[in-house]
Order: sequence, then C-alpha cells, then structure tokens
Amino acid sequence: MTLAATGELVLAAAAAGRAVAAFNIITLEHAEAVIAGAEQTGKPVVLQLSENAVRFRDGRLLPIALAAGACAEAAAVPVGLHLDHVKSPELLRQAADAGFGSVMYDAAHLPYAENLETTRSAADWAHANGLWIEAELGEVGGKNGAAPLDPHAPGARTDPDEARRFVADSGVDALAVAIGSTHAMTSRTAALDHILLARLTKAVDVPLVLHGSSGLPDSELAAAVAGGIRKVNIGTALNVAMTEAIRTHLTPADPRPYLTAARTAMTATAAAMISALN
Ligand code: G3H
Ligand code: ZN
Repeated sequence: MTLAATGELVLAAAAAGRAVAAFNIITLEHAEAVIAGAEQTGKPVVLQLSENAVRFRDGRLLPIALAAGACAEAAAVPVGLHLDHVKSPELLRQAADAGFGSVMYDAAHLPYAENLETTRSAADWAHANGLWIEAELGEVGGKNGAAPLDPHAPGARTDPDEARRFVADSGVDALAVAIGSTHAMTSRTAALDHILLARLTKAVDVPLVLHGSSGLPDSELAAAVAGGIRKVNIGTALNVAMTEAIRTHLTPADPRPYLTAARTAMTATAAAMISALN
C-alpha cells in the first residue's frame, strides 16, 4: 500500500537536497519496469501519464490510470501518480477521480498573460480537489513530436523575474523551467544553463521541475539536482530501451519474450537514472 502524494515526495526530496524521478509511462510494462527500477534503488518514484499517452489509449484515462495505481499500491517503495502535460480542461477534471495526486497543467505555449490566467484557474480547481499542481513557464521544446525548439533562441528560456511573478500570481505548487533541455532526445548530449538555474532557484520559492531529461548525461542530471531541481521528468529514455529490446528479441507470435526483454531493459534504465539523481 504505497501510493504516495507526489507533493509530499517532492517536498521530502527538497528537504534532503535531492530530486524525485518521474517517469512517463505508456504501457503496463512501463509502469512495472519503473517500479522495479525504483525498488532496486530503494527510492520513491513518480509514475506519470501524459495527455499524449491518454490520446494513444483513444482518450480513455481510467484503464491505464487504474492499472498504474494498482502497480503503485503493490510497490515496495512510495510511488506517486501524476497526470502530465495536460492541456485539456476536461482531462484535468478527471484527475482526482482517476486516482492522481498531482497534475502538470501545460499552457506554456500561450503568451504570458493567457498562460497565467488558464494556469491560475487550473490551480484553483486542483487545490479545491486536493491535487498538487505543476505548471510551465518558458517553453521546453520538442513536445508531441514537434521539432525541438532551439533552447538557445531568445525567449526559449524561463525568465527568473517572470517566474517569481508567475508562481505568486498563479498559486502553483511547482514550476517546470526551460533551462536548455528539450523533449524527446534520443542521445544524452544536452547541456543546461546552470547560471540561469541558480537565478531561478533564488527567485522561485516552489520546487523546480526539469523536463526533457532523457537528453541529459548523468553529470548534467546530478548538477541539475545540486543546483536545485526537485523533480526530474524522464520519458524517451524508457522508450529507447524498450524499442531496442523489442527489436532484438522480436518473436513471430508470443509477445511475452520480447515484452519481458523490454521490461528488463526499462527497469535497468529507470534504476540507472534514479541513481544518477541521488
Ligand atoms: O514530461 C515529460 C518529460 O519532460 C519527458 O521528457 O521524454 O525527453 O525524457 P523526455
Ligand atoms: Zn515534459
């Protein structure tokens, strides 16, 4: 019985100068593998389901959410359940009843004033329904198959003064920041702007969240945590491990051999990335 509140996991990590790893799941095998990896390290973990992954399930949230919740309940480490990159207000409003303890509301693509207005109303709803809420300011590129934004382009980074105002005016519990990472990288070659991270850590009094973490080498992940990142979102690294394992072990009929190989590979990836943060 170890379904945990994401907010409590993040705050406990922050108090210890650490970060919680949060992995995006698509299949049941992802959820099983992430939990097995976390159990190997003895660390808490967050399972997150993105709006994109719900779309893959024909828009049905409950089947995969309930399966992930059951995996969390059976885990030997605390596991949070988080609804990630939500743009749809309808999906947001299903979060509490589907067992999620937290959500990330993503209006980062909108101009500042609209991002603030929609995020504030999402935060009001989330808090009234007992959910911890994360939002994003300064867009981390490469979402939903979009071409990666140039993380070095002007305006592609989170501005510390804007971030301070955004958090105070929206009431969110955590902030995803654009500091040089980008989503969906299949090589671990990205580099973060550590000077900007230091300024953001000083300016913002809620935990900071790193997105697009699959593209970062271990040294950058460790430096991000040392610099104040408290939740680290990882998705593509699992999918790379899964796909490689399936390609290698593909059998003509029975899916169990290649899904076993995929789960084993994702477990190793999850354990290694959790260890890199701590
Ligand atoms: O919210 C999800 C993450 O930002 C995952 O990004 O797939 O590039 O690791 P990634
Ligand atoms: Zn993300």
